[in-house]
Formats: sequence, C-alpha cells, structure tokens
Amino acid sequence: MSKFLVIGSTGNVGGALVTELLERGHQVRALVRDASRAELLPTGIDIAVGDLNDAESLTAAATGVDGVFFMQLEPVPAQAENMIKAARTTGVRKIVVLSSIGTVLEPLPMIGAGIAARDQVFRDSGLDITYLRTNTLMPNALWWLDTIRAEGRVYDASDPGKTVPVDTYDIARVAALALTRDGHAGHAYIINGPQALTAREQVEILADVLGRPIEFVPLTPEQLAQRSIEQGTPAEFAGAVQNLNELFRAGRAGVISDDVTNLTGIAPRTFRQWCEEHADSFR
Ligand SMILES: NC(=O)c1ccc[n+]([C@@H]2O[C@H](COP(=O)([O-])OP(=O)(O)OC[C@H]3O[C@@H](n4cnc5c(N)ncnc54)[C@H](OP(=O)(O)O)[C@@H]3O)[C@@H](O)[C@H]2O)c1
Repeated sequence: MSKFLVIGSTGNVGGALVTELLERGHQVRALVRDASRAELLPTGIDIAVGDLNDAESLTAAATGVDGVFFMQLEPVPAQAENMIKAARTTGVRKIVVLSSIGTVLEPLPMIGAGIAARDQVFRDSGLDITYLRTNTLMPNALWWLDTIRAEGRVYDASDPGKTVPVDTYDIARVAALALTRDGHAGHAYIINGPQALTAREQVEILADVLGRPIEFVPLTPEQLAQRSIEQGTPAEFAGAVQNLNELFRAGRAGVISDDVTNLTGIAPRTFRQWCEEHADSFR
C-alpha cells in the first residue's frame, strides 16, 4: 500500500482525489492550513497541518510519502519552490501538478502565462512531474449560484465560445493513475469532459435538470469585468478574467482531447450528470 500527500484536500479537485485514492486502497495524508478543516475530510486519513508558504511544514508533510498531488489557488512560484525543496529533502520524486489548458492556448492568456511559468519551475526541478492541463471545472457553475438564487439569471461573457468542462472526479481519476503507476513522469495531459459546450448551453442543461427557467444574459468581457470590479473584485484580476473570456469567446478552449478516456479506459462524465449530482446545491 502506498501513501500520498494531497494538497488542497478540502477543495474541489483535492477532495475528489482523497476519495479516489482511498477507494483504491491507498493511504492519504491531507495538508490542511487549519486543523479544524480536517473535519471536512473522510476519517482514517493522516492530517498534516501546514501551508504552501511554509517550506518546513511541507517537508514534515512530505516525509514518508510516495508521491504528492500539488495544486495552488494562484500560481505563486515561491510555493512551488517550497514544494520542490520539501520533495528533495524527503526524497519524494513523484509530483502530479494541477495545471491548466490555459498554459497552451494561443495567444497565451494572462492567467495561463502565470500557470505556465509555475509549471516551468517544476520542469526545471528535474523531479518526476506529471501536469494535468484541465479545461474549465464543472464546479465553476457554482459561481452562478448567487444570481440564480437572487434573480434567476446567469451573466456570462464567453458566449458563443465553447469550453470542455470537466468533472473533478475525472481529474482525480487521472491524478490517481499518475501517482500510483509508473510511466507518467514528464507527461502533460489535457483533461476535459466529453462535450464542448457554450456557457449558454450549460445554463440550459442546468435549468432543465432543476426544472425551472434560468435566463442567460450575455455580456461582453469588458462589461463583465466592469460589473465584477463594481462588486469588489480587484481590477487586476478582473482584467485577467476579461482576457480569458476574450479567448473563450473566440472558441480557443473548445478543443476536445481524448486523454481521460485513453488513460483510464472510461469516458469522462457529462455536465448533465454533474448537474444531477449537485442539483441540491442550486435549490
Ligand atoms: N476553475 C477552473 O476552471 C480551472 C481550470 C483549470 C485549472 N484550474 C486550477 O484549479 C485550481 C482550483 O482548484 P479547486 O477548484 O480544487 O480549488 P478550491 O476548491 O478553491 O480549493 C483550494 C484548496 O487549496 C487550499 N489552499 C489554498 N491556499 C493554500 C495554501 N497557502 N497552503 C495550502 N493549501 C492551500 C485550500 O485549503 P483551505 O481549506 O485551507 O482553504 C483548498 O483546499 C485553480 O487554482 C487552478 O490552478 C482551475
């Protein structure tokens, strides 16, 4: 039985990976910033209290594990360097990094450029790294929750461009494979769902599953950025999202890869399945 350190275990992707590894009979150590967050996690796993900004806590967390799943909220290079230092100190060679399709879009979006620079820090480490270049996450639909509840509307600036949203369960399946099997070091996989969908189509599917109408309100990327700045989003971040929406709108992230099926032998889950499983969150 192998043991793996999962960063972001209380989040969407890390949480799905904890479940996946346990179901495969592996041991899990979860890094949490706040010990009380461990209550959210399944029983029977090891908890390491630490922070990506604290290299010593990562060294303690990585001691005795066979591999690490690494994710960040923002691609701060110093956090990646802390993880690499901890891996070198503890002799861990295998790291699976949550990356993004944004790192390979043309032209490179601002957000993708930051993640690509972070990935380069891992590439330069010489460790055995696997990169999961995920398309948009299906749980992003939860970002619509407030306006659906308050107004029955979704405001979006990517229409008519398509993305290929992926269930975190499918990211977790590939992450578990890359951690537990040999032969994935140095590979970068494109992780997406089975269908390219516009945001409008996603909203139609969600409305159908919920059994009530949701109005889709298309905005320009600039209008959406302005709206989010008025609601308190820092201008720099709103500008980066505007830049990303311009690429989405142009259809740059709508390309479907077969990597999930080819690697795992099972097709990824549909957006409709995700909506059915999470319908209660929207009620
Ligand atoms: N959204 C998309 O469409 C998309 C597309 C491509 C790639 N991605 C990647 O996916 C990531 C988001 O993944 P997600 O949805 O699983 O995130 P999430 O649900 O927001 O979870 C974030 C996790 O990171 C932990 N965390 C945050 N800062 C930390 C720190 N300094 N030290 C240790 N742990 C820390 C949080 O722990 P606490 O419990 O302590 O808060 C939480 O477990 C993005 O950052 C991006 O890299 C997203």
